[in-house]
Amino acid sequence: MIRMRRLRVNETMRSLVRETSVSKSDLVYPVFIIEGSNIKRPVDSMPGIYQYSIDRFDEELKRIQAAGVKTILIFGIPAHKDEVGSEAYNDEGVTQQAIRAIKVKAPDLLVIADVCLCEYTSHGHCGLIRGHEILNDETLVLLGKTAVSLAKAGADVIAPSDMMDGHVAYIRDALDDNGFLNTMIMGYSAKFASGYYAPFRDAAHSAPSFGDRQTYQMDPANGKEAVRECEADIEEGADVIMIKPALPYLDVVKAVSLRTNYPIAAYNVSGEYAMVKVAAQKGWIDEKRIVMENMTAIKRAGAKIIITYHALDVAHWLDEEL
Ligand code: PBG
Ligand code: ZN
Repeated sequence: MIRMRRLRVNETMRSLVRETSVSKSDLVYPVFIIEGSNIKRPVDSMPGIYQYSIDRFDEELKRIQAAGVKTILIFGIPAHKDEVGSEAYNDEGVTQQAIRAIKVKAPDLLVIADVCLCEYTSHGHCGLIRGHEILNDETLVLLGKTAVSLAKAGADVIAPSDMMDGHVAYIRDALDDNGFLNTMIMGYSAKFASGYYAPFRDAAHSAPSFGDRQTYQMDPANGKEAVRECEADIEEGADVIMIKPALPYLDVVKAVSLRTNYPIAAYNVSGEYAMVKVAAQKGWIDEKRIVMENMTAIKRAGAKIIITYHALDVAHWLDEEL
């Protein structure tokens, strides 16, 4: 008989043979900054998550620092939206101002800036539109301007989430041409057209006003194509590739991790978060246990970086274990 249970006799033995661990340095915490003043508004579909105006963000910054989380992913929500998403590449836009303010107060906090137009366009699509068509190459120009503007504001990492073809190469050139040789790019490489983004679209006011995102985000049925998307971003110069959502797509994380030596990030998105939170609030699941199991599964599949709304809780739970 092969006695597998020898490896499980006690916690010391189990931890000796444990293959995967989660640490604070793996975590990225997404934050929402809204234009205006004195705002701290709960996102109903994401319990524990708030939109903050820049002047109220100090409170959140203190929580992040107390938890020991070192990296944030920033989403700005402008007051003014138009057809061409002007506020995305306005040097005085809400996201740019927020990054500057954060870098003054917490210079060591790593700031990843999401680059997309959907939070900034009146129609809520991630690119420029002509009629009901989402234009690719015309959009690249605006994404390049946005990336440069965010880098100028102090973003350490640019994370294009638009799913336009050629975006990483275009943004890399734009950053290099403007002297931002060391600004990293984390591509949202395999981003699926997912129902799991619904709570985020409440938080970021970015639901499309017509149609859906299926002409640019990926078909959930396609794993091989997801690998090609990651390969394309790497060829174009991405430093880190991301798969999104995380848990329903761990097969993709695994497939990509077996084929590349680039760091992989997985985005545990708003819908994944909301499902856990609501079941925990009902008392139907043990929140800490489920979240830590989810984090471990994401690492086990091959991701190094986990972008998650649970980040501060996870950091505290990791402290408890010491
Ligand atoms: C913007 C963007 C989205 C998310 C991250 N960046 C929404 C979307 O594509 O509709 C989703 C994040 C989440 O659900 O937590 N393109
Ligand atoms: Zn978008």
